[in-house]
Formats: sequence, structure tokens, C-alpha cells
Amino acid sequence: MRTDYCGDLRPSDVGREVALCGWVARRREHGEHLAFIDLRDRSGLVQCVVDGAADLRAEYVVRVVGTVALRPPGSENANLETGGIEVQECEVEVLSAAEPTPFPLDDRADVDENVRLRYRYLDLRRERLQRNLRLRARVNTAIRASMESQGFIEIETPLLVASTPEGARDFVVPSRLNPGAFYALPQSPQLFKQLSMVGGMDRYYQLARCLRDEDLRADRQFEFTQLDMEASFVDATDVRAFVTEAVSAAIEAATGSRPTFQPDMTWHDAQERFGSDKPDTRFGLELAELTPLFASTAFNAFKAACVKGICVPGGGGRSRRELDELTEQAKRWGAKGLVWMRLDDAGELQSPVAKFLGEDELRGIVAATGATPGDLVLIVADERSAVRHVLGLLRLHLGRPPVNEGGRELLWVVDFPLFEGVDPGTGGPIPAHHPFTMPHPEDQAALGALGDPVPAPEVLLATRSQAYDLVLNGWELGSGSVRIHRGDIQQRIFELLGIDAETRQRKFGFLLDAFRFGAPPHAGFAFGVDRLVALLAGEENIREVIAFPKTQSGADPLTTAPNEIDAGHLRELGLQLLPRPS
Ligand code: AMO
Ligand code: AMP
Repeated sequence: MRTDYCGDLRPSDVGREVALCGWVARRREHGEHLAFIDLRDRSGLVQCVVDGAADLRAEYVVRVVGTVALRPPGSENANLETGGIEVQECEVEVLSAAEPTPFPLDDRADVDENVRLRYRYLDLRRERLQRNLRLRARVNTAIRASMESQGFIEIETPLLVASTPEGARDFVVPSRLNPGAFYALPQSPQLFKQLSMVGGMDRYYQLARCLRDEDLRADRQFEFTQLDMEASFVDATDVRAFVTEAVSAAIEAATGSRPTFQPDMTWHDAQERFGSDKPDTRFGLELAELTPLFASTAFNAFKAACVKGICVPGGGGRSRRELDELTEQAKRWGAKGLVWMRLDDAGELQSPVAKFLGEDELRGIVAATGATPGDLVLIVADERSAVRHVLGLLRLHLGRPPVNEGGRELLWVVDFPLFEGVDPGTGGPIPAHHPFTMPHPEDQAALGALGDPVPAPEVLLATRSQAYDLVLNGWELGSGSVRIHRGDIQQRIFELLGIDAETRQRKFGFLLDAFRFGAPPHAGFAFGVDRLVALLAGEENIREVIAFPKTQSGADPLTTAPNEIDAGHLRELGLQLLPRPS
């Protein structure tokens, strides 16, 4: 039907007779007997000169046969790749007619999200999604090629599974043959990839669909895609090298150049300097340590376990109202208060609380934050984790560039803690990741052996793991870890986490059984393909790189999922519905 794609035609094609297929993007009358149509297909637009009497309206699907010619001088369009030429003397065959569309399909139109998703097939015709989905396909291809060249083999793991331990809610699927029993949809292929290591597969990867029932945000959908991988007889450094290579290849496929990675950062440094485990290092506003300055302060608000501040260059011009708003915002994030100070031209700190602080303290603040005249200093005092949290958010609020500005900053955050807290009731630790994460070799001894007393909270909280994250412009792109392959360490971790024998056996029995028959040391990683592609496309929301995504409330306005099912189907599944909660 077709000799060429519309967007590929160039002056070098002048004189050729071409057959094109596509949609009428726009029609303009040209004199009495002729009309111009912009014909659109996957590759772009080209202008065609057609008989003015033809019934050709927007979004009609047509086949056009004509001859490529240079546009008359002065009528070229520099904004269009095909703007130097047009297709003349066209014969047009209408393949299907189209009703007027519910929204204009040119990219400039700002269309309500629900309407876009209701008519996603029309939205897909627009340049933005055409571009993003092509980019996504290139990224997928590059990832596959990179993993294959590094000796990984693609293994498909099941979608109907038992629950997986990733910490979100499972989507469940009832079983007709086992009424009352449910499958879970996989939150990740975690357990199966570890089982394939026990199965001697050595290097596994998969572009895996994962499903998690969690609240949706700009970087979260119910369904998403991971590049999931696992390898045997490797350490954390090897895994990071595999992933670095795959991500570099993907970015090169998308942008034409390989990225440079920032130096690895420990979780501890990331928290201390950026107040986050996923630091956006595209901009400054780093957290300055002020605690020692206030060791014996007279100012009550700063008598705290931790005092830190950030200096906002040139921020001293903010109005009192803006500063009050910042304070309220900080409180909503959990701060007990926020102290602000302006450094005036004489190098003096101006602040409502300056009178409560000593000369040394004021001078110390200026020195530690590096403030210069005209700058604003913001200070929070509290428990260390609370201070980091609030200042980390303030920092993003005040300085974060838009997603498509400020370059691309990739870095590995390493040495995550093994536990994220201690249960005040039991004194036992709360795991930061799944319970198969290997403790840091230097911190293993402090955890004790099976049957030993539970170590003190400070020991537990200082225990590092062999878990690592990959961060791109402040987004968590992916996580992974070295796994526990030794029964004694695993049993000790379960014991510390207070997971009893019955629960262990019920939830992870099959994995623990497998480990009894010769488990190789293994480690792995998974990164979110949707997030990577969104960042490469300069999109704030991963919906823009997913062909058929869900709305923020988890619905699909196009197919109307999720839907009720009829009574017969429910009965067959052995299900009865409770009245809807009002
Ligand atoms: P984790 O749970 O950190 O690790 O997930 C890895 C990456 O998957 C992406 N991701 C998501 N993307 C879109 N929407 C979501 N709801 C969503 N949830 C996660 C993120 C995240 O960094 N099995 C482990 C990996 C391992 O240890 O090997 C895992 O799934 O980019
Ligand atoms: P107060 O002593 O509560 O009247 O607070 C005096 C000033 O210190 C106010 O500007 C508060 O916002 C600020 N402030 C109080 N508690 C803290 C804190 N934990 N960290 C930072 N600033 C605080």
C-alpha cells in the first residue's frame, strides 16, 4: 500500500512518485480548486496538494499517491522536517472516514487527563506519545542487548504466584478450581529469580511486569516494568557494574551519548548532606551540620539531638509572609519549628531569634553554612532523622530544577542500613528491605548468632546491609542487594525480625527448602523502566511513557476497569460480596 513514511521525505526524493498512508492532520484551502492536507503517520507530517473538491476531513484515513516536489520558494516551513517539499498532483483514496474528535490532536492543546485516557487511542496519535513510546522501545531494545551481551539469559517467571515480600499490598486473583483460595500477582519476581540461581541459571534477567496495590503518584503505577536481574558468584560491585552498563547503553540509545556516573555515595552521607536516600545532586543547598555549635546553647529550640541548616543563596529577599509560609510547610512535614535568618550587608544575621543566640553561635552558623550577604539560612532542630527529613524536603522545595533541566545526575547510593527502625514494643528491628538482604560483612558479627540476645537498638540501627540503590536526578531508579545464601545467617535475621518458624515456613518455606540443597552466593537488582524512560523523555509523570496507564485513582477510563463481575461468576469462584462500605 505504501512506498514511504510521510516524515521521511526530503528534497532528495524530488521527482519520485510515492504512495503514502496516514491520517489527515489538517486541511487548508488553496485557491479555488486545490487544498493542502498535512498527512500524518508514525514518522511525522508531509504536505500534500489535493483536489479541493475532495471530501477530506480531519482524521480521515487515506492513501495518497503523488509526486514529490520542492515547495515554491518562500513557502518552505523550517519547523517541519519535510518542510522543504510537498507531494503534488495527489490522488487520494479514503480508507476510512472519521467523526470529529473529542479533542484536537495537535500537541499544543492542553487536554484533561481523563479525556486523554478515555480516548487513549487518539492521544497515542499525538506527537508526544508517539515520541515517548518509540523512545521506550529503543530503551528496551538496548537493555535487552546489553544484558544478553553480558551473559544474562531471559527467563519468564509466573504471574499467578504466592505473595512476594516487597512491602506493598498484593493484587489477588481468585481461583475457580480452588474456591476460597487466591493467587497473588507478583510485586516483583524476587523469589523466582533467587530460585533460578539455586537452579544453576547463573545470570537471569527479565523485562518483568510487576503489580503493586499502592497509592499512585507521579512515579508510581499499579503495573510497571522492571529490568530485573540476578547473578550467581558475584558481589555487589559486580552487580552495580552490570547495571551501570545496561543503564548506560539505554541512555546512549536514547540520547546518543553515554552518561557519566557521580562517585558512589554512602546512605549515611546522602542523608547527612541531602536529607534523602535518593539525593538530587543537580543543585546545591546541602545540609550543614550545626549540632556542635549548640552543645550548650541557652536557646531552648536548639537544645536537641541534632541541629542542621541550609543556606539559600540570594534568598534573603523573601518576604516575611513567604518565610511564614515556609515555616508552616516545614511543620506540615513534621518540624517542630523553623528558624530563618538573613545575612545582611554588614555580615550580621538578622532573625527574630538572633537575640537568644550568642555571638559565637551566630558566627558559627555563618561559617558552617557558608552564607554570604543576601543569603537566607533555614535551621531545624530535632531528632537526627527528623531534621534530615524536613530539610531534605525543604531543599527540594526551594531548589529542585524541572525534570528536563540541570543535566542528568546518576549515582549509586551504597551501604543502606539493614533495619529502618526498632519496634518500641518488642525492641526488635524493622527491616529496611526484604528479609533476604545480606548484612554488611563488617557488621555481621555485631548481630550475634542464633539464640543470642537481641543487640541494643543503637547496634541494630548502625548495622549496614549490602543493599544499594541507583538514583537519577533524585528519583529512585532501582534497588538491589546481595542476598543471604547461608542458612545460619538467614535464621538469625528471621529470629531478630521476630518472624516465627511457622510464618517463615508458610511464607518463604519453599525458598528456605531450596537453600538447603546448595545455594550459590548471589546478588541482584531491579530498576524501573517506566521511571528511566520518563526521565529520558523529560516527563514528570510515568503515565506519559506508558501506552495504556491508569488514572491517579487506579481506573482505566478507556476500558472502564475495574469492573463488577456477575453473580454467576462470583458463585463459581466461591465469592460473596460484602455491602459496600458507606
Ligand atoms: P523495588 O521494590 O525497590 O525492588 O523496585 C525496584 C524499582 O522498581 C520501580 N518501581 C515502580 N515503578 C513504577 N511504579 C511502581 N509502583 C513502582 N514500584 C517500584 C522503581 C524501583 O526502584 N525485588 C527488588 C529488587 C531486588 O532486590 O533485586 C525490588 O522489586 O524504579
Ligand atoms: P518557640 O520557642 O517555640 O517560641 O520558637 C521560637 C522560634 O524557634 C520559632 O521561630 C520557631 O519556629 C523556632 N523553633 C522552635 N522549635 C524549633 C525546632 N525544633 N527547630 C527549629 N526551629 C524551631
